[in-house]
Amino acid sequence: MLKINPFYELSSLVPSLVMQIFIIFMLLMVIFGTIIDTIHKKNVKYFFLNAKKAKKSAKVKLSKSKRTSVILKTIASDIATTSELGFGKRRLAHVLGMYGTILFWLASAVMVFKYSTPGSNTPIFWPYVWHIGAIMTCVGGYWFWFFLRVDVYSEANPWYRVIKADLFVLALLACATSGLVWSLTQSSGMEKTSLLFLFLFVISNLILFGGVYWSKFAHMFYKPGAAIQKNLAEADGSRDNLPPPADAPEQFGLGIKREQPKHY
Ligand code: HEM
Repeated sequence: MLKINPFYELSSLVPSLVMQIFIIFMLLMVIFGTIIDTIHKKNVKYFFLNAKKAKKSAKVKLSKSKRTSVILKTIASDIATTSELGFGKRRLAHVLGMYGTILFWLASAVMVFKYSTPGSNTPIFWPYVWHIGAIMTCVGGYWFWFFLRVDVYSEANPWYRVIKADLFVLALLACATSGLVWSLTQSSGMEKTSLLFLFLFVISNLILFGGVYWSKFAHMFYKPGAAIQKNLAEADGSRDNLPPPADAPEQFGLGIKREQPKHY
C-alpha cells in the first residue's frame, strides 16, 4: 500500500484532468475563503493599523539586517516549530500534524499533476511521502482531538463534544483517515469499499477546503504574520504598546505548585 500511487490507480476510472481540476478548485476555495474571512473579521486591516501605531512608539529604528535576522529567527522557531505552544505534548502534536499535512498535500499535488496519467511511472518516494504524511496527520490530530483540546484537557468536557470550532481539525482528520483507508482498500483489491472511501475522501476535502470561512484553516496564514509582527515589535521596543515585564521576583506563593497551570 505504501508504495502505490492511489491517484494513478484511480486514473482508470477518473481522468487525470478531472483530478487536476479538483485540486485547482480546492486551492481557489482556500483563496476565496481566506479573502472573505479577512474582509469579515477585518483582522488584516487591524493588523496593519496596529503595526503602524506600534512603529510610532518604537524605541530603536531597526536596520535592514536586524529586521531580516528577526524575521529569519521567527521563521525558524515560531513558525517552523510552533514555539508559541511551549515545550511539550501540545507542540509535538501540532508539529506532527502540521508537517504531516504539508507532506500529504505536497505529495498529492505531485502525484496528481505528474504521475496520474495512464502509462506514467511514479517514483516510489512520493507514495511513501503521501502515506507517511497522512499517518503523521492522524497521530498528531487524534492526539490533539482526544487528549489535548482545551475544552477536553482543561474544561473537563468529554472528547465526543463537537462544536463549530472543531470543523478544521475534524475535516483534516477525515481527509487523512479516509485517504489512508481508500488507499488500503484499493491496494487490497476491495473495489466497492475503496469507492466508498474515495467518496468520503472527496467529501471531506470539500468540507476542509470549502469551510475555510467557518473554520480555523486560515490560522496557518495569520499566525506566521502575527508572530513576525510580535517579534519585530519586541526588537524595536514598541512591544505593541504593552508595558514591559515587571522588574520584580516571581513570587506567587506555594499555592502555585498545587497544580500544573492548565486552565486557560
Ligand atoms: C499546514 C499547516 C498547519 C496545520 C495543518 C495546522 C493544524 C492545526 C490544527 C489541527 C490545530 C487545532 C485546531 C483546533 O483548535 O481545533 C491547530 C492549532 C494551532 N495552530 Fe496550527 N496548523 C498549521 C500551521 C500553523 C502555524 C504555521 C502556526 C504558527 C506559526 C500554527 C499555530 C497554531 C496554534 C498556536 C494553535 C493552537 C493550538 C492549541 O490550542 O493547542 N499552526 N493547528
